[in-house]
Amino acid sequence: WVSAGDMSVLLCAPQVTPSLLMAVGSAVLGSLQFGYNTGVINAPQRIIESFYNETWLWRFSEPISHPALTALWSLTVAIFPVGGMIGSFSVGLFVNRFGRKNSMLGANVLAVLSAALMGLSQLASSFEMLIVGRFVVGVFCGLCTGFVPMYVEEISPTTLRGALGTLHQLGVVIGILLAQILGLEWLLGSLSLWPVLLSFTVLPALLQCVLLPFCPESPRYLLINCSQESEAHEGRLLDGSIVVLEESHRMQQETSVSILELLRTPAYKQPLMVAVMLQLSQQLSGINAVFYYSTGIFEKAGVSQPVYATIGTGVVNTAFTVVSLFVVERVGRRPLHLIGLMGMAVSAVFLTVAMALLEQLAWMSYVSIAAIFSFVAFFEIGPGPIPWFIVAELFSQGPRPAAVAVAGFSNWSANFLVGICFQYIEQLCGPFVFIIFTVLLLAFFIFTYFKVPETKGRTFEEISAGFKRAGAGGADKYSASEEFNTLRGDDPDL
Ligand code: GLC
Repeated sequence: WVSAGDMSVLLCAPQVTPSLLMAVGSAVLGSLQFGYNTGVINAPQRIIESFYNETWLWRFSEPISHPALTALWSLTVAIFPVGGMIGSFSVGLFVNRFGRKNSMLGANVLAVLSAALMGLSQLASSFEMLIVGRFVVGVFCGLCTGFVPMYVEEISPTTLRGALGTLHQLGVVIGILLAQILGLEWLLGSLSLWPVLLSFTVLPALLQCVLLPFCPESPRYLLINCSQESEAHEGRLLDGSIVVLEESHRMQQETSVSILELLRTPAYKQPLMVAVMLQLSQQLSGINAVFYYSTGIFEKAGVSQPVYATIGTGVVNTAFTVVSLFVVERVGRRPLHLIGLMGMAVSAVFLTVAMALLEQLAWMSYVSIAAIFSFVAFFEIGPGPIPWFIVAELFSQGPRPAAVAVAGFSNWSANFLVGICFQYIEQLCGPFVFIIFTVLLLAFFIFTYFKVPETKGRTFEEISAGFKRAGAGGADKYSASEEFNTLRGDDPDL
């Protein structure tokens, strides 16, 4: 038992304890859901479309027209990020009222509901049920992309925050890979089994409901939001080094900040801009053009087994997330994000050249596979994992839920935009479509270089203090990153 004053210091040695791993592992089952539902609709497209056609025929005694089928399919794909936009924006409604852990637990109702809707849609001959199910699971995943990184960041010791935060992305990529593999026609992507494939989302939901009750609530939430020192300490004692209560006593007086207040307060302008731009850099990099449409892209690039090449992207994706996991605490967020963006930009140029020369040189199809693989690999080095967890790092306890909501909303909106526009832009630009992403990637590189500070090894309080000092120095005179670098130089411990 420790007095309140003692809370202001760093209490525990940062170690990975079994209970910390269990808490993070249980939470990232939500990330897995996000990845699974991102990837699951790609492979069985033709098969589910034939179900739409049969249902249409049965109802209206005529086959579905091509434009109607395209519209229904686009709706099926795009309603997921629409749900995600709503879910991510609502994060703040739950996390302070019910706590981080209970919010994650409760959200599973949506996963179970969506699994039932999607799983029974064929039996009920209703594509509406499938579309509503995709929307509901989108809302659920939107909530997960807020809840999970917030919980993980709040329970992690400072020096492991980046590595543990990357586990959220690892959950996502494993989810995508699982969906790509299970979606093969000879596994679950068949005419009779696709409802099982879609309703598979119920399994991680049930598993999480079993595991989460044994995990601790975020001690920062208990201590700062609920002023429950005893409970926070119980968590700490139970979990050994899991809880690092490094925020100062002052933080306990932090009131929660609404989204409107967050947008209006000048002090939050800089970190919010960084958070939103990083989220946009993740989505406008074009990554989901690959994950939604890779099979089609590979087909156009002359690859003979596009489905397996798609699974290849999932494998590369997973492997490089693991690489990032191990280097993020050593190299830092900023360099990894910069390397990732530049690598993606160069890969996109190679892909464009390969696609443009395909007709003259057949072997360019191999170059395009290599270019897509390296595009994905560089994504996972930085732009994949970092934006998700850095938002929780850039804000202290009061504004954090609102910031996570705004950042998540930006991410999902950009995700929606790419998902819905890519095919049309591709029709317009042909092989040069990835040049648009190259330009955007270079712009985000420049922004990151000048504006994004390093957060590695800094407590939440030090990070917000860094922004305040940068703000006081005048936004024109100092960028936050310069200010942070100055701080680092002054500090012999860093
Ligand atoms: C990130 C993105 C997600 C994307 C995934 C690919 O988590 O947010 O949209 O599909 O990475 O690995």
